[in-house]
Amino acid sequence: MVPPPSARVLTRRLLTWFRAGARDLPWRRTLDPYAIWISEIMLQQTQVKTVIPYYDRWMKVLPDITALANVSPERLHKLWEGLGYYTRVRNLQQAARLVVAQHGGKVPLEFDALLELPGIGRYTAGAISSIAFNQPQPIVDGNVVRVLARLFAISGNPKDRRVNNRLWTLATSLVEAAHALKPITVPSGSPLKLAGNCSALNQALMELGATVCTPTTPRCAACPLRSCCSAHKSNRVQCYPDNDRRPRATSRRFVAFVIRRGDRVLIRQRPAGVVNAHLWEFPNAEIAPDGTNVSAAGAKAIGIATCDVRSLGVIKHSITRYRISMECFAATLRGRPPRDAGCWRPVDQLAQLAFTSAHQRLLARAVPESSG
Ligand code: ADE
Repeated sequence: MVPPPSARVLTRRLLTWFRAGARDLPWRRTLDPYAIWISEIMLQQTQVKTVIPYYDRWMKVLPDITALANVSPERLHKLWEGLGYYTRVRNLQQAARLVVAQHGGKVPLEFDALLELPGIGRYTAGAISSIAFNQPQPIVDGNVVRVLARLFAISGNPKDRRVNNRLWTLATSLVEAAHALKPITVPSGSPLKLAGNCSALNQALMELGATVCTPTTPRCAACPLRSCCSAHKSNRVQCYPDNDRRPRATSRRFVAFVIRRGDRVLIRQRPAGVVNAHLWEFPNAEIAPDGTNVSAAGAKAIGIATCDVRSLGVIKHSITRYRISMECFAATLRGRPPRDAGCWRPVDQLAQLAFTSAHQRLLARAVPESSG
């Protein structure tokens, strides 16, 4: 399945390289499958350096599955605030409750039982099985796709079924080869823990993609697989993987209001089933991209009447392919707000609520006393 040199050669080189230079990351200091599971979910769509403080805080507050199963939704969302893709954290809690109810509170050892849990797909089940339990299960994430596509010069879009199957098959051959080799150990004095060669091989592939075989300026001179890499040999490293062209970014314009009444502020919770569901925000609305008198247009779209309007500047952020420009105002409300405009909350309680990233920035800008 693996073209020459054999999977054994590639695997041996990867294991030796990983043993000598693996980064010291907090989730590599444990073999607790719960901790590894949390780290893998956080690492989806989020960079290692962003995840580390979230992971450390999470493990202090929710050190085990029972704690996760029982925590309030508000506390849970607050722990995730800023990581985005909040379905991940709601799935984590649902899965923890199932593990308590159906598996005695222990992360199941069986790959198929892991796959049954909400938020756990082939990648995450493979990561937990291999990293925590040293089972020869493959993993293919964005980093691994890049390493394998270059190593074996795999053309075609990695999302196409045929190409994707090929990548999973190659990853399987490598982890199975690692399983059959003499077990490596971490160097003496290292804080890292290793469940075995399957754990090391999968982490080595991800590590290589994250630190050496990077998207734009790969450091081929530092690569342990350089002499076997088909893309390197043909000087075509930049041609792999052959990803989709990204759709063009779309600009959108929003208006948001910070409306205070005494020591209370008008805020609202986003409904279920939308982006950033259940998170808090200030009243806001989308307006036409080219309109003038922005605050009046925003107030009309929200259904409020305002006075004493003062600019708080513009907050720019991105969600998926949207480049959002949010024009922010402080204002006083005339009359009562409509029911769906929000509810009044005391300023000193805002720090306990999880806000969307853009509105967290607005909160810090407009209500600085809310964070103590
Ligand atoms: N990305 C996904 N999983 C990872 C891990 N265990 N270590 C580092 N980066 C990762």
